[in-house]
Amino acid sequence: MRRRTVLVTGGAGFIGSHLVDRLLERGDRVVVLDNLSTGQLSNLERASTNPNFHLVQGSVLDELVVDELVHRCETVVHLAAAVGVKLIVEQPLKSLTTNIRGSEIVIEAAHRYRRKIMVASTSEIYGKNSRGPLTENSDRILGSPAVVRWAYSTAKAVDELLANAYHRERALPTVVIRLFNVVGPRQSPAYGMVVPRLVRQALRGEPLTVFGDGNQTRCFAHVSDVVTALTTLLDAEAAVGETFNVGSPEEISIRDLAERIISATGSDSAVRLVPYDAAYGAGFEDMERRVPDIAKLHTLTGWAPTRGLDQILRDTIAEARAEASSQLSAA
Ligand SMILES: NC(=O)c1ccc[n+]([C@@H]2O[C@H](COP(=O)([O-])OP(=O)(O)OC[C@H]3O[C@@H](n4cnc5c(N)ncnc54)[C@H](O)[C@@H]3O)[C@@H](O)[C@H]2O)c1
Repeated sequence: MRRRTVLVTGGAGFIGSHLVDRLLERGDRVVVLDNLSTGQLSNLERASTNPNFHLVQGSVLDELVVDELVHRCETVVHLAAAVGVKLIVEQPLKSLTTNIRGSEIVIEAAHRYRRKIMVASTSEIYGKNSRGPLTENSDRILGSPAVVRWAYSTAKAVDELLANAYHRERALPTVVIRLFNVVGPRQSPAYGMVVPRLVRQALRGEPLTVFGDGNQTRCFAHVSDVVTALTTLLDAEAAVGETFNVGSPEEISIRDLAERIISATGSDSAVRLVPYDAAYGAGFEDMERRVPDIAKLHTLTGWAPTRGLDQILRDTIAEARAEASSQLSAA
């Protein structure tokens, strides 16, 4: 494998920092551009001791910085985004600007210097389409633009359209990845992500708050498996110009997830159902199911998840316990 210089936008975040570690492990040079809005320097502790690693603290909205960094690198992985339903609902304007204008700036720079670019999209693309499993060609079913929740889906769809247009009309080498729920160590509980949030509630002995009736299902993939999918796709010539679902097909209802977390932590917490309106404000809409069809990715690369929900929960619980005991000893 040839050594490359890879720019990872959002590389101080949850998925980005794991990707950075993996790229460095295999000998690539890595430059991270991150404004540390949801990312953390501590995620890059291991990377920062590597001479092939360089962090630039700044925004993808800064065109000059993006231009210079894209110029210096051979490949771009664009992960920087305002992520998570809670953040999007609370700060719609900032989120839209980051997720649309920020992506446009990065994709334009990749085009200017003819760099291969991987663009992170999301299963939110499918909106309320609750049929499963969803293939890359499945319909998007969205509610009214007046419902802020759909802003994230719409912004990411614009990113996909831009990447596809640059590929088709300007021959830019692009790969679009639609990530379904990714979990594992370093995922912050602060922005409403369900697994880290429920795990911490269980460890604190608080009720595990489940929104709606808890019958909605999701599929959770371990970040380590997802990073393997990303590096494999980056190396696959046949992936250029294509879009891939990346996720686990193992489906679980959120209520069952909460019960699994209670039993895995040995907590005596109970599950408390919270109406969506109380959690996210009036008019919030959610989808019943979200299951990926990963046949396209599997056929091209042979990738399939290797870590199931039990391992995901073990890793997340171990991290939350370590975090709680370090907070205790610091107090
Ligand atoms: N985690 C998931 O389950 C999931 C699911 C679908 C899609 N995604 C996508 O994967 C990508 C990474 O998500 P994550 O879960 O690691 O979230 P994260 O919040 O941990 O990572 C996002 C990173 O982007 C950085 N960032 C935000 N705005 C920026 C800006 N203007 N300039 C530079 N950096 C900026 C943040 O500081 C953070 O480090 C995102 O594009 C997200 O939409 C994630």
